[in-house]
Amino acid sequence: MTRRPDPVRGATITGTGMYVPERVLTNADLERMVDTTDEWIRDRTGIRERRIAAPEQASSDLALIASQRALESAGLCPDEVDYIVVATTTPDRILPSCACTLQHKLGATRAAAFDMFAACTGFVFGVAMARSLIGSRAADTVLVVGVETLSRIVDYTDRNTCVLFGDGAGAVVMRPCAQGEGVLAIDIHSDGELGGVLEIPAGISANPASAATVAAREHYLRMQGKKLFPFAVRTMEESTRRCMEQAGIGPEDMDVVIPHQANLRIIDAVRERLGLPPEKMPINIDRYGNTSSASIPITLDELTREGRLKPGDHVGFCAFGGGATWGAGVVRWTMARQGPIDGVPAAARLAATEVRA
Ligand SMILES: CC(C)(COP(=O)(O)OP(=O)(O)OC[C@H]1O[C@@H](n2cnc3c(N)ncnc32)[C@H](O)[C@@H]1OP(=O)(O)O)[C@@H](O)C(=O)NCCC(=O)NCCS
Repeated sequence: MTRRPDPVRGATITGTGMYVPERVLTNADLERMVDTTDEWIRDRTGIRERRIAAPEQASSDLALIASQRALESAGLCPDEVDYIVVATTTPDRILPSCACTLQHKLGATRAAAFDMFAACTGFVFGVAMARSLIGSRAADTVLVVGVETLSRIVDYTDRNTCVLFGDGAGAVVMRPCAQGEGVLAIDIHSDGELGGVLEIPAGISANPASAATVAAREHYLRMQGKKLFPFAVRTMEESTRRCMEQAGIGPEDMDVVIPHQANLRIIDAVRERLGLPPEKMPINIDRYGNTSSASIPITLDELTREGRLKPGDHVGFCAFGGGATWGAGVVRWTMARQGPIDGVPAAARLAATEVRA
């Protein structure tokens, strides 16, 4: 008998979690550090404050709390995780990977763990990877984390960048589901020709760290913000439209589209081009700034815990970032409403997320 190939399985989000450090850096604080004003930052970016990791906190520490919360909401134990994908530009170190350090701290002893470098689009790339792993039956349970301690690579003497970025972590658990549910479409892209628009000039193989590179502040992030702005608007709109097309739905069918929280003016421009009302494009950039790969999973967790997402909703997300990279996704939501963190036992929330594959 000829065995037919197994059909590709669907993949869905069954748990979400987030964590931001306690310390708040306000625009007023930045006014005392560089030549800027609260008014300029709010008008040009929409940011009021951002979170900064404590000196003893590395990215894996932020990721750990977000991951524990995501697993708790999925009703799973760490040793049930098959893969850990950590999207980050700020791993604890280059070696070992942030994902391996997280795996150890989490006690996810069975999981294969690796870092994914796709800058602010990293979470979208991570969901694409998890969907492929689950769809091909290489994995049943994938933890996708977006985490950044950008405060460690931001030059707090450069007003062009230091007002924008913050620290934080978001995580989702992905599991199999019936086809036609969960992730309906994913669209990811890269263009290395644009590498210079957002870069850290020194530190690794092309320009190893030395006293000279440190003196020239080349271990900090540098950005050509004006070039990124139109690129961000165009790519996030196009990528979201491609996903809606793949999913066979239009903007009017979307219940929410979560944009990467880079700049409120970029978000509003994308929203207007897609013809979405403000309530369908949630914002938290005012509270957290740009947390790069963490911004979408942080927002996703806030929405689930606010009860804004219900099974059957069409949930989109889109991002752009260094590399350059960009992408989007559309999910038919399957998770029941979340309780507050440390609240209702996770098992009570599992009704709508049973594996039907
Ligand atoms: C960075 C960004 C906020 C700047 O806003 P903008 O409206 O493009 O501002 P400009 O670059 O035209 O700068 C206008 C002026 O403000 C100044 N400026 C820059 N940062 C400032 C700050 N923090 N405070 C006060 N003035 C500032 C500039 O020096 C410039 O002065 P000049 O005209 O005398 O040269 C905007 O370009 C942006 O968000 N780009 C995308 C960046 C991004 O999202 N990066 C992350 C990728 S994931």
